[in-house]
Amino acid sequence: MTKTRDNWGSKFAFILAASGSAIGLGNIWRFPTVAYQNGGAIFVQIYILFVLLIGFVVLIGEISLGRHTQRNPVGAFRRLAPGSAWKHVGVLGVLSALGVISYYSVVAGWTLSYVFTTAGGIFNSQLTQAEISEVFDGTVGNPLKAIFWHFTFMLLTVGVVIGGVRKGIERWSKILMPLLLLILILLVIRSLTLEGAEIGLSKFLEADWSKVSGTTVIAAIGQAVFSLSLGIGTMMTYGSYMNREENLVRSAGAVCFLDTLIAILAGLAIFPALFTMKGMEPEVGAKLIFIVLPRLFSEIPFGVLFGTGFFVLLSLAAVTSSISLLEVPVAYFVDERGWKRRNATLLCGMIGFLVGIFSALSLGAVDWLSEITTIGTRKMGFLDLMDLFMGQYSMTFGAMMIALFVGWRWGTPALLKEITRGDDPPGRLRKIIAFQIRYICPLLLIALIAILIINPNAFA
Ligand code: ALA
Repeated sequence: MTKTRDNWGSKFAFILAASGSAIGLGNIWRFPTVAYQNGGAIFVQIYILFVLLIGFVVLIGEISLGRHTQRNPVGAFRRLAPGSAWKHVGVLGVLSALGVISYYSVVAGWTLSYVFTTAGGIFNSQLTQAEISEVFDGTVGNPLKAIFWHFTFMLLTVGVVIGGVRKGIERWSKILMPLLLLILILLVIRSLTLEGAEIGLSKFLEADWSKVSGTTVIAAIGQAVFSLSLGIGTMMTYGSYMNREENLVRSAGAVCFLDTLIAILAGLAIFPALFTMKGMEPEVGAKLIFIVLPRLFSEIPFGVLFGTGFFVLLSLAAVTSSISLLEVPVAYFVDERGWKRRNATLLCGMIGFLVGIFSALSLGAVDWLSEITTIGTRKMGFLDLMDLFMGQYSMTFGAMMIALFVGWRWGTPALLKEITRGDDPPGRLRKIIAFQIRYICPLLLIALIAILIINPNAFA
């Protein structure tokens, strides 16, 4: 019996779904603060350079592997390098995608809960900073609440993925992505029209060389890999549903462009807003999003509306990314084990949920999970460690292996053949892509991995 494999309904469906995968918490939450900490405009430029040098070509490589083999990551390596150890790169990808979704869903659960907290008008101007912090601690530190929102978010993700590629992922990406862009643009306009917006804007857009160091480069590469969802088979899996006739290079270019654009727009939305509050410096991570911003929303006109809009935006961005993460192990079970999509989705969703409980309890609810170890000067809880190992090390390592595989094992002639099926990239671009995937990407990524081995807290 031959089963027909699900595929995207159109070229735009792929671009929307793959951009949805790329655009997530990494763009709206992580990018603006990482950019601020690393010299503002200079970081943005270095970041764009690495998107072009590494992100764009590894993305092309991943999509090509998926489309050529029409398989999940394990199946793709099995087909192209039968009997070799390469399939373990696919296995690592499947496991890492499950690992990332387990904690991603916890953080996304907080954003979902904040949609309701903010809409309920709790953040009013009478609330002190300490009281706003208490609201956050009460959300993430309360075991039942944290697990409930993590469960709810995972349920939403499972609900979309169970519908399949066209009726689930494609359908929802078409609704959610334009909505995301609309809300973000409204927030940028609100932010840029606040009194004193230019102070924050200049902090984001002015180059501060004193903050640039070797770490800046590491941060830029790490951010590009995470933001483009590379190295763990996400884009390979989405590529496996792409029609052979479609223009792969242009689609990959569109995904990189949209992902970077949204990250920069997020910076434009967050920075001016932050600096209009006296004495506020952008905090990193959770504090920025869940403590500093709610305080701002409590002070500006129509704050409840914009605050709620902001958390809806974050939740939308998160869900279009989490569905792509869940799709990786689901595709593995469907392709390799012949499981029904429904059963595969339920099982993977369940595993993600159960593993995620440890992350959900690691923000104060259970002491030993909240402080497992110290790396460098940072105390790391379960969620931090998952992010470091799954979201950073594993994705970067995977991206390096994919570049090596495409450049040296599968080979650039095969890659060029795949990308010219439905596209006609100019000869010079083809040469550049081949050169980058064979030399530049492996070199830079091997160097980065070597630095991480010597100094494991370089990302921390
Ligand atoms: N690429 C996704 C993000 O940026 C995982 O959040």
